Amino acid sequence: MTVSGEVSDHVDGPSPENEKSRAIKIFDTTLRDGEQSPGASMNLVEKLEVAQLLADMGVDIIEAGFPIASPGDFESVKQIAQTVRGSTICGLARCNDKDIDTAWEAVKYAPQARIHVFLATSAIHREFKLRMTPDEILARAVAGVKRAASYCDDIEFSPEDACRTEHDFLCRVVEAAIDAGATTVNIPDTVGYATPDEIYTRFKMLRDRVPNIDKAVLSTHCHDDLGLAVANSLAAVAAGAGQIECTINGIGERAGNAALEEVVMAMKTRSDFYRCRTHIDSKRLVPASRLVSKTTGIQVQRNKAIVGRNAFAHESGIHQDGMLKERSTYEIMRPDEVGFSKTDLVLGKHSGRAALADRAKNLGFTLTGEQLQEVFEQFKILADKKKEIYDGDIIALVQHQITGSVDEQWGLVDYVVRSGKDHEPSVELTLKHGDQEYSESVQQGDGPIDAAFWAVEKIVGMELVCKDFRVRSASLGRDAIGEVNLEVEYEGRSYRGVGVSTDSVESTILAMLNAINRIIDEKTSSQPPSV
Ligand code: KIV
Ligand code: ZN
Repeated sequence: MTVSGEVSDHVDGPSPENEKSRAIKIFDTTLRDGEQSPGASMNLVEKLEVAQLLADMGVDIIEAGFPIASPGDFESVKQIAQTVRGSTICGLARCNDKDIDTAWEAVKYAPQARIHVFLATSAIHREFKLRMTPDEILARAVAGVKRAASYCDDIEFSPEDACRTEHDFLCRVVEAAIDAGATTVNIPDTVGYATPDEIYTRFKMLRDRVPNIDKAVLSTHCHDDLGLAVANSLAAVAAGAGQIECTINGIGERAGNAALEEVVMAMKTRSDFYRCRTHIDSKRLVPASRLVSKTTGIQVQRNKAIVGRNAFAHESGIHQDGMLKERSTYEIMRPDEVGFSKTDLVLGKHSGRAALADRAKNLGFTLTGEQLQEVFEQFKILADKKKEIYDGDIIALVQHQITGSVDEQWGLVDYVVRSGKDHEPSVELTLKHGDQEYSESVQQGDGPIDAAFWAVEKIVGMELVCKDFRVRSASLGRDAIGEVNLEVEYEGRSYRGVGVSTDSVESTILAMLNAINRIIDEKTSSQPPSV
């Protein structure tokens, strides 16, 4: 059986060498489902930067956001549609006129625009969430797809919680959605409950039973609650899916979505088995992972497949010996294939702007003239403090520049901190807001960092609940940059802040101010509804 005339089944083992490879569309939802990770919200500048990188790396469809969710979401989808070229730009909508009209208003500027309409179909969602009968669901789905199709010809329909929907009803909905104009039908495992065998069976079942299935691309969208999102996505591909929905670093609602870098490299490395290809330039995977990690504040675990720091580190003597004799003994991919640079080149105070720009580019950051100037100034200050500047330091400086893209309402002027064993810590802090400077001295807290928290809160007049606080060294040596990643809660919402300095108290103050500036920034837009 074939989908779009070029599908073949591979689940029973490797396919013959001469079998044609099938193009799988990569639908990236980092900016929509990915942004639903707690504390991962990105501002407009950051979203544009991520979207541009996704387009440059060859992503077929970028789900840029959920335009009805907030004015901020609408604006970012619109600006991405206006400026990012090379990928289809998609906006999400619930199955109602207002959502669909708003999604179209945001994506209509893109040369290739898609509206993604979703409506839950499982019995649990029908009964408890929507309180609708199957026939009502069917009618609503058809009406929604038709309305979206009146605006553009690229329409995706998702029966939410499809993997827990009765087979018969799912077939009816899918068939009706395609008849109404859906060109892609996405089968989400919304709660991450399915197993690879079940996914394979469900996709095969749809291909066997839905008469018009060849008129649409079948898509998979898997959540990682049981750690099966990537395996499930690949099972769907083996059963004929032509599109994978995924996110950079696998970020997303709860345990996240299928990781883009993992599905892409699985299909590339095991093309003998899957007989599939994507348009993704795999050398951009590590830079994309770094950019998303920096802009969301969600760190990548060291042993994360493909992009983790240890993904290509061989520790055991036996492995190292094997590697020296023949790389393929223990390595199935080359680090440079996914974008790890070959060397950790050291820069110093004599390095110029061009060397810095080149290094930043190799690390995945293309800086504008103004950004380069600012990073270069910070680089020179750092080079005076420490002799050797490593990749980690440069990433931290660039990230500081990126997070600096939040309007700087509050900035640091100066601080003096005193602390010692059995001494109550004290901080004298001066912050600026516009042209005004404000100072406070506090003598309280469990240490200099806690005291700095108190002092910032006192000046700014906000009470923040610290949910997560991490300090890490950005590179080598005791004079390395210390990066503070912070998650705070304010009025029931989570915000993150990042600060970098060779002094960890300063990093903490900068991270707090970064979070506070984000809170102020976001107050202009309302909260996104949960999906
Ligand atoms: O997980 C899900 O069901 C979704 C839909 C909106 C596609 O994210
Ligand atoms: Zn999802």
